[in-house]
Amino acid sequence: MKDAAPKTIYLADYQPFGWRVEDVHLTFRLAPDATRVLSRIRFVPTTGGEFFLHGEKLKLISASIDGGPAEVTQTDEGLTCPVPDAPFTWEAEVEIDPIANKALEGLYMSNGMYCTQCEAEGFRKITFYPDRPDVMSVFTVRIEGDEPVKLSNGNPVAKGEGFAEWHDPWPKPAYLFALVAGDLVNHPGSFTTKSGKEIELNIWVRPGDEGKCAFGMQALKESMKWDEDVYGREYDLDIFNIVAVDDFNMGAMENKGLNIFNSSCVLASPETSTDMNFERIEAIIAHEYFHNWTGNRITCRDWFQLCLKEGLTVYRDSQFTSDMRSAPVKRIDDVIALRARQFPEDQGPLSHPVRPESFQEINNFYTATVYEKGAEVIGMLKRLVGDAAYARALDLYFERHDGDAATIEDWLKVFEDTTGRDLTQFKRWYSQSGTPRVTVAEDWADGTYTLTFKQMTPPTPGQPEKLPQVLPIAVGLLSPNGDEVVPTTVLEMTEAEQSFTFDGLSAKPIPSILREFSAPVVLDRVVSREERAFLLAHDTDAFNRWEASRDLARDCLVAMVRDGAGPDTLWLDGLREVLRDESQDPAFRALMLQGPSQSEIAQVLADTGSTPDPMAIWQANETLLDTMADRWADLLPSLAAEAAVTEPYAPNAEQSGKRSLGTAVMALQRRLDSGANAQAVFDHADNMTLQLSALANLLRAGRGTEALKQFETQWQDDRLVMDKWFGLQISAAHPDEVVAVTEALTRHPAFDMTNPNRFRAVFGALAGHHAGFHRPEGYALLADWLIKLDPLNPQTTARMSTAFQTWRRYDSARQAAAKAALERIAATPGLSRDTSEMVTRILAS
Ligand code: TRP
Ligand code: ZN
Repeated sequence: MKDAAPKTIYLADYQPFGWRVEDVHLTFRLAPDATRVLSRIRFVPTTGGEFFLHGEKLKLISASIDGGPAEVTQTDEGLTCPVPDAPFTWEAEVEIDPIANKALEGLYMSNGMYCTQCEAEGFRKITFYPDRPDVMSVFTVRIEGDEPVKLSNGNPVAKGEGFAEWHDPWPKPAYLFALVAGDLVNHPGSFTTKSGKEIELNIWVRPGDEGKCAFGMQALKESMKWDEDVYGREYDLDIFNIVAVDDFNMGAMENKGLNIFNSSCVLASPETSTDMNFERIEAIIAHEYFHNWTGNRITCRDWFQLCLKEGLTVYRDSQFTSDMRSAPVKRIDDVIALRARQFPEDQGPLSHPVRPESFQEINNFYTATVYEKGAEVIGMLKRLVGDAAYARALDLYFERHDGDAATIEDWLKVFEDTTGRDLTQFKRWYSQSGTPRVTVAEDWADGTYTLTFKQMTPPTPGQPEKLPQVLPIAVGLLSPNGDEVVPTTVLEMTEAEQSFTFDGLSAKPIPSILREFSAPVVLDRVVSREERAFLLAHDTDAFNRWEASRDLARDCLVAMVRDGAGPDTLWLDGLREVLRDESQDPAFRALMLQGPSQSEIAQVLADTGSTPDPMAIWQANETLLDTMADRWADLLPSLAAEAAVTEPYAPNAEQSGKRSLGTAVMALQRRLDSGANAQAVFDHADNMTLQLSALANLLRAGRGTEALKQFETQWQDDRLVMDKWFGLQISAAHPDEVVAVTEALTRHPAFDMTNPNRFRAVFGALAGHHAGFHRPEGYALLADWLIKLDPLNPQTTARMSTAFQTWRRYDSARQAAAKAALERIAATPGLSRDTSEMVTRILAS
């Protein structure tokens, strides 16, 4: 359904709904192509107005008010109806078609199983309802059908031949509604809360997947414990269910008491999952569980406040991972992800504030900015007020807003009330888009050292003028012999230009700036290679040690591409010292080996006035890696030995850190032995981490054909492993082969465009291959498939169209090809609102 003129929704237009919903009773009579949904809803007038219920693609069978006929007027978006000026009961019966629902929003079927996805606005595809997060009510649900397992939110209240009933005592918005029914088996568990209540836990999966639940169950229990210990938050129902679903648009969903997960984000076993998968699953289970308080008990007034629950919950899951694993490694991983996903968004045509002020399709605002920058903003707030004040503010937040649909103003007010601070300027982090750029000048005179910072945020769409932000800049000072003379202090910058002085120093210090990446900014600091190498060797802040190496790597690659320079041996020799230092965490050393991405190098080149050539960047990267392998040939065997794991596989931080160092070393060794070692690893691997990275190296060494076949034979029945098989062939391909390999894989019998995981495995890998994608054939191929997917699954199509967001960085031939691809998508008849909004914004820049 394409609107003639796309409608824009504004934060400024917020109006409350004119009725309170006392309670909701729903009955589902399940049938794949004709499910009946009966609703009984009690409305109580508050401010009244026109009575409008959302409803899309619903066949209305009957509707009544207080038992009498309702005179409804239906549109594509819902219905209006005259109602009494007093409390009344609305009853309706509608018919929906789950099996035809490939958009995976509302009630749909995945492998014969019924499931729902209602966030953000999917409930309106299930029944007529005021589908907005500030309408909260108590739901009772009856499910009728032959499926052996029938689940909904809350606690089970009745069960019998062909039916099950659930009651959720906690008022909730409709987006947290969920229903699952099918032939499922459970992995059970239990958790005793701090007040002594025993909670039944289950992970529900398709028969055959039982063996992949133990890790998720353990992660769930750890999350429940952590939220009690760190935030004082206890679980509030008798039962907590998780369901794994194969067809799912995103990672997972926090429906009250019934979390639904993309099976890739919960199912795990050593043979089929990589260390990265395990860590991600642990984090997502925690994330969804933490939403029970930050999202569900306290929800959002409207969708503009999405960061209220997402930024905070991402921040909480990062804290959890830091506590469970290594804090410095987690911080570096988060910054890598922020720079790879959020920075391009914030510096391109899709830039928007953490709290957007308008949208056409809310599904397009589940972004890295709302989630990850939203979490960074909370980290800055905590750094500014301190840990103790943060804890008091959070206690007040839960106490004051439990049961509310809250706003960012409510959130900031609890901080103002607990600390007495004025957060007016800080609030710009929620309204001003774009990444601030910070420059630094230093001055040394008579024992006084001065740092002068300047901040500037470039214009972004709709925001030509920018104001200074509050920046917490964590700084430490080192003496020339490497001792720390001033430990980490947080400088609070509020002006466009501001100086900070340090007295009583006996020698000009070397500054370590933006420790722990204390603010999400681009630090444009001109520093000599020698000074960076000094920080690489001596900084006490793990993040900035890593950052020093990464800056050297970036400058090295830029010089190779732009000036035809050779690899920077000063950096390589400094890095060698870190690599051989056995007192350093192997995971940290592995991160040191991971340079900036080719896309980041392209951005730096574009920012400094050059036109990036993706093939030249690719070639420089290859040359650099070859040089590393040659220069460190003598060191690699001992590093490999140090990284070897002899105990049985465990996905913990210690073992996975060793494996990440080991696989980084394997990738360098492959450049020396043309894959002989990788072949040996492949032949003996007993876990997916090693098997997959060995396969990647065999493919890159041009000797992977046999292994690829073997892998396919071994794993053809495991859909999650086959997603890796699809993706790897593209990401490990030579840039000139990428488009042809992608095209060939779309003809593979196991390619299924209706499954988002498989579609993303293939086209996400294409879009992620910098030199393979950024060419006319790459753009055209992605456009072809986005056009095919849009009528089925607009949400995933729109999300994947962001691959084009950097198109203006490149040369005119590439720009013309990207523009043509985007215009072809835009001109597709019947294009969804989701994709049309995205493509229009990307083209508009
Ligand atoms: N609220 C979910 C989370 O952050 C994500 C989510 C939003 C989602 N919309 C969705 C998940 C649509 C699946 C489908 O955890
Ligand atoms: Zn979330």
